[in-house]
Amino acid sequence: MCSIIGYASSEQVTSTLLKGLKKMEYRGYDSAGIAVASNNQLLVQKEIGRVKDLEQKLDLKYTTGHAGIGHTRWATHGGVSKINAHPHMCNDESIGVVHNGIIENYDELKNKLIARGYSFKSKTDTEIIPNLLSYHFNQTNDIKQSIIKTVYELKGNYSFIALIRNETMVAVKHHEPLILGIENDGKGYVLASDILGFTEKTEDIIDMDNNQFAIILSNGFKMYDFKGNTSSYLISKLPQKHKEVNKENFEHFTLKEINEQPATIVSTGNENEQTIDAFTKSIRKKENIVITGSGTSYYAGLMARYLFPMFINNAINVIKSSEMKFSEHFLNPSSILVAISQSGESADVLEAISIAKNRGLSITSVVNVMRSTLAKESDYAIGLNCGSEIGVAATKSFTSQLAIFYKIADKLSEGKIGLNFNEISQAMSKIIKEDDKVKKISKELKNVHDIYVLGRGIHYPIAMEGALKIKEITYIHAEGMSAGELKHGPLALMDKSAFVIILNPEGDTYQDNLSSIHEIKARGAKIIGISNKNNENYDYFIEIPKISEILYPLIEVIPLQQLAYYTSLEKGLDPDYPRNLAKCVTVK
Ligand code: AGP
Repeated sequence: MCSIIGYASSEQVTSTLLKGLKKMEYRGYDSAGIAVASNNQLLVQKEIGRVKDLEQKLDLKYTTGHAGIGHTRWATHGGVSKINAHPHMCNDESIGVVHNGIIENYDELKNKLIARGYSFKSKTDTEIIPNLLSYHFNQTNDIKQSIIKTVYELKGNYSFIALIRNETMVAVKHHEPLILGIENDGKGYVLASDILGFTEKTEDIIDMDNNQFAIILSNGFKMYDFKGNTSSYLISKLPQKHKEVNKENFEHFTLKEINEQPATIVSTGNENEQTIDAFTKSIRKKENIVITGSGTSYYAGLMARYLFPMFINNAINVIKSSEMKFSEHFLNPSSILVAISQSGESADVLEAISIAKNRGLSITSVVNVMRSTLAKESDYAIGLNCGSEIGVAATKSFTSQLAIFYKIADKLSEGKIGLNFNEISQAMSKIIKEDDKVKKISKELKNVHDIYVLGRGIHYPIAMEGALKIKEITYIHAEGMSAGELKHGPLALMDKSAFVIILNPEGDTYQDNLSSIHEIKARGAKIIGISNKNNENYDYFIEIPKISEILYPLIEVIPLQQLAYYTSLEKGLDPDYPRNLAKCVTVK
């Protein structure tokens, strides 16, 4: 959930470290810090808040170094404080460490180090790493040996970068992302937990393998495995599209990404038509399909649960990744596992596929980041191809995930769905352009405490996703539910203060929804109808274009994303960086 960066260069490193951290801070942003090696000392500064807060307060002396490390944090062990922010130093301040992941046995290691005379300032698991490195260095006087001995003792999934005061950098990868970038003039080496952290000069990259470490000096690097053997690596070119990701003319990434959907819906999956074909054929041969994901990705999986049974008879179970270890009985070798994840790094999803693999299942992933752990560990990976998504609230990746499932369903139906992404794209553009109504309603929603989002059938997963969007970026209590369930309990919550959004385009679910609308109206709650057709019972109406009934989920989610976005603005919040959250949840 945190971002880590390291940079060794013939030039001064501070501004590059800060720039890289800013681009990666969507992965965690409660505090930030850097350490720079200068005159055989490590200069450290950490601040609570965003990278821009660190930058504003940064002491001038930090601009002098040629090797440095940096971190943006999403707190796991220890609250949000300067002391708990990274980098963490060893007791004699000769080694600083930035870390992503969790050291599971940190308590035991901490006690061992305390018994050896070490002391600790923070409540983090990270602080044991520089001290363990320092302990082993004092024993061996050899940096390589001290790394081997340190990683031998660490348990958990982690990657870290250590900076030694003589400007040597060490990069260690164990089940958390870490990439080494080489600048085109050969004068700089960048380490980053995310491809967005690289400099404009980064040309070649090495995706480090698990259980690999690199020792980096300003003039070169060496790669080893955890046993200390020289390790091979693959150098590839940094994809151009990842060199610069910015907001363009949009106020926020979230808005930019909502607005990109008419384009991304058309490009989704285009690079993977063969894999989609092969997957469609393979599910015809399997008895069970188990689909897993977290949050938004889980809701995309729920859509498959509604679509596929229209055309095949396989049993389909959609299991939240965090529940997989309690649902193993659904997994047998005659099943196929589909894992959905935008980032491809969610710890829960990775755990779910590891459980499924142990039970002999083949894994197909639907993933946006094709160099992610999930993509690499799957037998087949279907790429979303919707470009980097920076806003913490998933938007374009969700419609792209849906698009993949619609493509599969269309193939299963032998074209009966009549999928036409150009038509969907036009409908999306119309909704995006005509956002006056949504903006007006958002002014009302900013003062509301409870919002209920209702949908039946294929609209149910969208209702769940819409409520998640509202929760994440407006902090208003929002619940998604299937409309028919209202009368079985939640109706007790309806009163004049509640707002209900109902997904109600014309089709199979329309009449039943009207009954729910009457039940709600009778209790005084306000109703926002999202439909191609107005109804006198709506207090507010958001019109969406008329399209084929089965395809409405692809477009009706957009007004929900917009409502969440504009309400967040009305409340004076930053929708790109919602409190307590991070883009990529790499902890369990
Ligand atoms: C979506 O808006 C959320 N930020 C969150 O629920 C997210 O979908 C979830 O953490 C899964 O992430 P993934 O798709 O990267 O695995």
